[in-house]
Amino acid sequence: MEIQKGKFLSELKTKMKNDKSLPLRSNATNLVFGEGNPETEVMFIGEGPGYWEDQKGIPFVGNAGAFLNQLIVTAGLTREEVFITNVVHHRPPENRDPEPSEVAAYQPYLDEMIKIIEPEIIVTLGRFSMGKFLPNARISSVHGKKFDVNWKGRELVIVPMYHPAAGLRATGVKEQTIEDFKKLSEILKEVNDNESEKSNESTGEQMQLV
Ligand code: URA
Repeated sequence: MEIQKGKFLSELKTKMKNDKSLPLRSNATNLVFGEGNPETEVMFIGEGPGYWEDQKGIPFVGNAGAFLNQLIVTAGLTREEVFITNVVHHRPPENRDPEPSEVAAYQPYLDEMIKIIEPEIIVTLGRFSMGKFLPNARISSVHGKKFDVNWKGRELVIVPMYHPAAGLRATGVKEQTIEDFKKLSEILKEVNDNESEKSNESTGEQMQLV
């Protein structure tokens, strides 16, 4: 299965590389598709590539990326075991916010990534990716909380977080984000416990049927 997910992701990446209709591609150096473990339970979705991400073709490798790496460890995870991507996969000029039409143009690819990876939990980084799953939420009131969302027929746990770059701009947000990622480790445990309970129940049911 792992090989399949990896294969599907690399096919999707090739499709994206060849898609001349993507609106931000003409100013970008590289496609920043996303990277990580295709088998992960936890996916992180940011906003869009900045200068270093555009240079390297890898998400979150600049200053915000260094802070994100630290936050991932705070949650008891490693960068290698999760998958990280963005709502737009080419750098917007001058690091401006992506336009709604640009987010919409990249959306089918992001949706397909989610379908392939089938994560249990999506951690949104900043308001653009939060808006995809929790359109009416305000980041200041929902950050670090767990939301059970039915998204396109799929049960997902969404945990909205402040964007790591916001943490680098304001000490209060930085401290809050570190606290939120500590709580993320508890949310991960809770979701895993629920999953193993469900699978024990179904094994129990099967045994009774035998
Ligand atoms: N900020 C983002 O939202 N994504 C990146 O990949 C880098 C910085």
